[in-house]
Amino acid sequence: MCGIVGYVGKNESSTDFVINGLKALEYRGYDSAGLATIDKGKLKYLKDVGRVANLDKLIKNNGDNALKEIGSAKISCGIGHTRWATHGSVTKPNAHPHTNSASDIFVVCNGIIENYQEIREKLVSEGYKFKSETDTEVIPHLIDFYMKSKKADFYPAFKTAISDLRGAYAVAAVYADNPETIYVARLSSPIVIGVGDQEHFIASDPSALIHKTKKVIFLNDYEVAQITAKEAKIESLDGAKAAAQQVVELDYEAEESEMGKYPHFMLKEIHEAPATIQSAIRGRVKPAINTIKLGGLESVKQQLGLIDRIIITACGTSYYAGLIGEYLIEEIAGVPVEVQLSSEFKYRNEPLSRGTAVIAISQSGETADTIAAIKKVEDYGILKLGIVNAVGSTLARITDAGVYCHAGPEQSVASTKAFIAQVTILTEIALHLSNGKSKLYSPLLKELVDLPSKAEETLKLESDIKKLAQKYAKARDFLFIGRNYLYPCALEGALKLKEISYIHAEGCSAGEMKHGPLAMIDENFPTIALACNGPLLEKTMSNIEEIKARKGPIIAISTEGNEKIKTLADDVIYVPKTVEQLQPLLVTIVMQLFAYFVAVEKGLNVDRPRNLAKSVTVE
Ligand code: AGP
Repeated sequence: MCGIVGYVGKNESSTDFVINGLKALEYRGYDSAGLATIDKGKLKYLKDVGRVANLDKLIKNNGDNALKEIGSAKISCGIGHTRWATHGSVTKPNAHPHTNSASDIFVVCNGIIENYQEIREKLVSEGYKFKSETDTEVIPHLIDFYMKSKKADFYPAFKTAISDLRGAYAVAAVYADNPETIYVARLSSPIVIGVGDQEHFIASDPSALIHKTKKVIFLNDYEVAQITAKEAKIESLDGAKAAAQQVVELDYEAEESEMGKYPHFMLKEIHEAPATIQSAIRGRVKPAINTIKLGGLESVKQQLGLIDRIIITACGTSYYAGLIGEYLIEEIAGVPVEVQLSSEFKYRNEPLSRGTAVIAISQSGETADTIAAIKKVEDYGILKLGIVNAVGSTLARITDAGVYCHAGPEQSVASTKAFIAQVTILTEIALHLSNGKSKLYSPLLKELVDLPSKAEETLKLESDIKKLAQKYAKARDFLFIGRNYLYPCALEGALKLKEISYIHAEGCSAGEMKHGPLAMIDENFPTIALACNGPLLEKTMSNIEEIKARKGPIIAISTEGNEKIKTLADDVIYVPKTVEQLQPLLVTIVMQLFAYFVAVEKGLNVDRPRNLAKSVTVE
């Protein structure tokens, strides 16, 4: 997944905005970066492998004239890109922007052009020469081809070229003869237009422009736009639809996108857990009147009352939140739930009755697999709901209704506070579906209100957890075990550790251990055992004894007051008492901190782990 940024206006240098915007989007991809600006009708560009800071240094060092002009002049129009390689290795020629042979058209793209090979072959047969291995490079040449072969102006040629592309992409382009205009197009990959006073901004994600404006327009699929300082003219290439052109207000502050006093976004976002729970329950959980109110589901109240089955579809951490949701909704509301990985759900041929509701869970709202899963059922006449964090994102817009996480921007690749929000909201949805009939209804409403303070208590364990991380950071394997609500937690704990520390980690139902995984255990294979109070605690303690008998090191995460666990485990982290259904929220904070400090101990790039991207917008 890559990042696109652009600026057109009179109020600042497009270079400054683009460079700062790319830094904000580096979580989307960071193997190379580049920008193109139009200065007095001349297109200039700069690109290189490495981080955006490398580009910034090149500009500030004013290498040669081109750099001097890009860096200093108050240039009114420019686009930029930070890349996560899909087609073509990480090299300077493969970095964006890409240009035509006359170098009067520059294009950046986020996503995949699935039919780029056939387009490239057609252009080569027409005499076009390519400098990169990328799919994106076909776009400037294709525009050039249509301008020449159809004697067309830039914009009509741009639209024709875009119409030829198949895949999932967001494209931005500039043309030397139209020095005050940026052209954008969207099919499945996000692009947002920031509306300013005599200036407009574009970005793949609002966090790159929110410090300039909170008024934004989210482009829809098949929409293209001509953007000048004064206006953004949007039209739909899908003849059937008019362009939406709806200006919305972003629901968070710019500083929420910054790291503040923390060394990494991940630690900041872990520490936002109490505020995240608070935001997820605010205005929704009302124990004083024994009520749960989910405004986002009001519009589908009638249909929701008729569902007899729920499928939750998601990826990664969101999928594990969904697994906890399965336990919650089945126990509290008595509705059967099945959780499926989006990449599997999309290709399954299973019977889906009209009484089925599909819930997509996604922090970014842009995960291609989950979007594809929802698109699969869009004509099935079944209810499609979203639990999404990014306001206005694709999943928020293609589902019938949903509940926003309101967790604020999550920048670190490892999802932490979004998971906390998702599980909180799944608890609320379970309570909502129970219509107050569950014996858990009132206790859970009350406990949800007390949970932020218990999350604060859990965060105070940070220094103890840091010591544990330093003690175990050299291990090459970890097993995470838990039962019932804590089993999906174990899966999430394993994912958190492996994705930022690169250590092999496996989550397993504690009851399943003796059916195979126990064979791996020895003195070099530590286990993180989730052993909190509940009807299955004794069984989990027996599983811990099985591990101990094989000399496996044990780190237990248990409920405060459980003295017996100290006789079994090598190390114990105690979390505050809470109801079984909400234990995942506190236990997960401990595992997030553990994973974080192991990665720090190993000197790894915590927020930008290798090979990963924050939002996987390709299938
Ligand atoms: C989680 O830490 C990972 N970054 C990844 O598994 C993520 O949860 C997954 O890609 C789904 O992303 P989404 O919630 O934005 O859809």
